Amino acid sequence: MIVFSPGVIKLFGEHAVVYGKPAIAAAIDRGVRVKCSRSDRAVVRAGRAQVYVEYDVERREAKAIGEEGEKFLSYVLTALRIAEAELGPLKAVFELEGDFPPSVGAATSAATSVGVIRAYAACLGVGLEKEELAKLGHRVELEVQGAASPMDTAVSAIGGLLKITPSPFSYEKINPPMKELALVLLPRRGLTKDIVADVRALRSRHRSVDAVIDAIGEVVEEAWQCLKGGDLKCVGELMEVNNWLLGALGVVGDDVVALLRYLKPFIYGGKISGAGRGGVVVLLPKRGEIAEALAELGLPTYIVRIDELGARAL
Ligand code: PMV
Repeated sequence: MIVFSPGVIKLFGEHAVVYGKPAIAAAIDRGVRVKCSRSDRAVVRAGRAQVYVEYDVERREAKAIGEEGEKFLSYVLTALRIAEAELGPLKAVFELEGDFPPSVGAATSAATSVGVIRAYAACLGVGLEKEELAKLGHRVELEVQGAASPMDTAVSAIGGLLKITPSPFSYEKINPPMKELALVLLPRRGLTKDIVADVRALRSRHRSVDAVIDAIGEVVEEAWQCLKGGDLKCVGELMEVNNWLLGALGVVGDDVVALLRYLKPFIYGGKISGAGRGGVVVLLPKRGEIAEALAELGLPTYIVRIDELGARAL
């Protein structure tokens, strides 16, 4: 039994979502696959997840190579513990395979948390509503990270193009007007939690930073109307506005600005996706030729489609 849980791209509203503003994000056709097979031993293996992990649940022995591996392992173990507490005991071998390296900002941690819980339920033969899965996945992120908005886990669990309101949590889903998104992976400088803490510190030093956060909230509302109306030019322009506002929060580097300038003829717009300081840049491509321009960058790039179904058994 194999479960696929999609990665998540933030189209509008990251950082402001931490302060209660809405955000728009999409599940994509690349993410994490979790294979679960019942066994007399409970073991976790991460294969092509770009980290090496092996955990023997009974002996409580874990091997994770390097910092990335350990971080990844803590999501897996917390997800297994929460699944066991909520769904009942299970002995199984879990094998994980990811399309992106962890910590690039494509919500690998959310997709891992959601995927492990969904696979656990499927292996155990119990049903799990998408909303319930989203909630349990969010609990994993909260435990491991200390703070996290419900955005990534909700979008990975539910799928599609969603506008989410963080508290109380609610969401709206629409048919995406775009076929594809392009992603460029820049080297990441810093962890999400540290970047979120820096924004919080900036906000506590300057009252005017609240106005930037409010403005991001307004961009989200306007962009949602453009998405509903299928107006890609409007969506792209607002992605750029959102990116400059994120720049005002100190999370957009010169590398992103240069990249967007270089790709301008091929895109409606683009911005960082996630905490920033490198990581994923999301682009709304105008037409096919972007592939050539992307190939010339010499950076990891992906053309992705929106995944409508969310985490599921394949
Ligand atoms: O960089 P990522 O994929 O971890 O995304 C972080 C998004 C923030 O809005 C900055 C934080 C959050 O918890 O929503």
